[in-house]
Amino acid sequence: MKITIFGTGYVGLTQAACLAEVGHSVCCVDTDEHRISQLNQGLSPLYEPGLEALLRGNLAAGRLHFTTDAGEGVAFAKVIFIAVGTPPDEDGSADMRYVFAVTDTIAEHAVDAKVVINKSTSPVGTAQRIKAHLDAVLARQRRQLDMQVVSNPEFLKEGSAVDDCMRPERIIIGIDGEPDTELFRELYKPFSRNHEKLIVMDSRSAELTKYAANSMLATRISFINEMANLAERLGADIEMVRKGIGSDSRIGYDFIYAGCGYGGSCFPKDIQALQRTAAEAGYHPQLLEAVESVNHRQKHKVFENIKRHYNGDLNGKTFAVWGLSFKPNTDDMREAPSRVLLEALWAEGARVRAFDPEAMQEASRLYGARLDLHLVDSKEEALDNAHALVILTEWLNFRIADFGLVRQCLHDKVVFDGRNIFEPLHLAREGLAYYSIGRAPVGLAQP
Ligand code: UDX
Repeated sequence: MKITIFGTGYVGLTQAACLAEVGHSVCCVDTDEHRISQLNQGLSPLYEPGLEALLRGNLAAGRLHFTTDAGEGVAFAKVIFIAVGTPPDEDGSADMRYVFAVTDTIAEHAVDAKVVINKSTSPVGTAQRIKAHLDAVLARQRRQLDMQVVSNPEFLKEGSAVDDCMRPERIIIGIDGEPDTELFRELYKPFSRNHEKLIVMDSRSAELTKYAANSMLATRISFINEMANLAERLGADIEMVRKGIGSDSRIGYDFIYAGCGYGGSCFPKDIQALQRTAAEAGYHPQLLEAVESVNHRQKHKVFENIKRHYNGDLNGKTFAVWGLSFKPNTDDMREAPSRVLLEALWAEGARVRAFDPEAMQEASRLYGARLDLHLVDSKEEALDNAHALVILTEWLNFRIADFGLVRQCLHDKVVFDGRNIFEPLHLAREGLAYYSIGRAPVGLAQP
């Protein structure tokens, strides 16, 4: 099948590469000329395991090509995906200008009927708005084309986007009116394998499904973080509590890891956008508000531990920071807890020596050259002349540490862990003080 995709961000690019990989013929359109020229050389603009290999293979096989020519994109296929960004507006609602710019482009260039599939995370009612917009533009031009608009939200996670796309747990198709699902079964057949993955519903339910899924996951995280804060005060261990509740199959083990808060491009933005949508519908979503405020507080948690340990005086201290990305296997620092900590440390006159396996370039793009930030080439180098170690992302490579070296390097022999990657007693035996989340600090000198 021939497919055109507008937008070469995480969602558009991954979708394009995976659809080409299963045999479809895909044309990708973006307005960014530099990005398109890189992509045509098989260079991925974002770090995502497996993506570049798929891009190169399918470019070479002729199943995938990239263009800035929107007219070529619209003419190429009957099936057109919209996969452009919906960043937060000043008031937290989703900024839909890119989605509607693509809608205008489709209306302008289409000479035959299209099936427009919206993959961008968009407020409830967007598919219907796109349909009305297309029809209105065509009517103004006295043209009549039978445009179908469908909502098909994306559930991929950064760091495993290719895998999530190739092996989806479900494919949500939101169609209004009399649903003709044949085209979608054909489009997604290779991803369904032996098990039908399509769930067909109306477009509004499909749009809300996306927000509800992310809100549910974020709720779990804020819930466990709230329990972690309680556990600390009650002398309990959140890691034990997590195992205890996760073993209940109704609860399960996923997304109940306590930590320094959720970040990334989806949860914070989608929860805010859903709150705006709710307000517009005259409803006050108390739970979503609490999820967000618990997360906001949690992002300051590591800093609070640091301040407590140093009795509020951080001036002139140097902190080794392991992990800057909002989670492992990505270079993305959007809404990352590391940003809150770095800025709080700097405000108190402290210095930072930071290492991340992938996000160094992003960190230097965000913070440029500053005297109080030293971006170093390894986790060991970060420890040089530091007073304390702070862990903010649970990269696999951080889980095995040479504690002898850590003890030797750190002036103050103290570790602040925002992801609970170590066993407290083990660190205490190694002669280190250790603060984690939802567990009592260990190894502190007795007053
Ligand atoms: C999320 C959704 O998982 C995905 O389905 C959706 O399409 C986009 O948003 P992503 O933002 O890539 O994906 O990351 P995810 O793996 O969900 O993690 C989000 C944040 O939650 C990270 O900062 C992570 O560290 C944090 N997290 C996750 C926790 O603090 N505890 C957990 O138990 C799980």
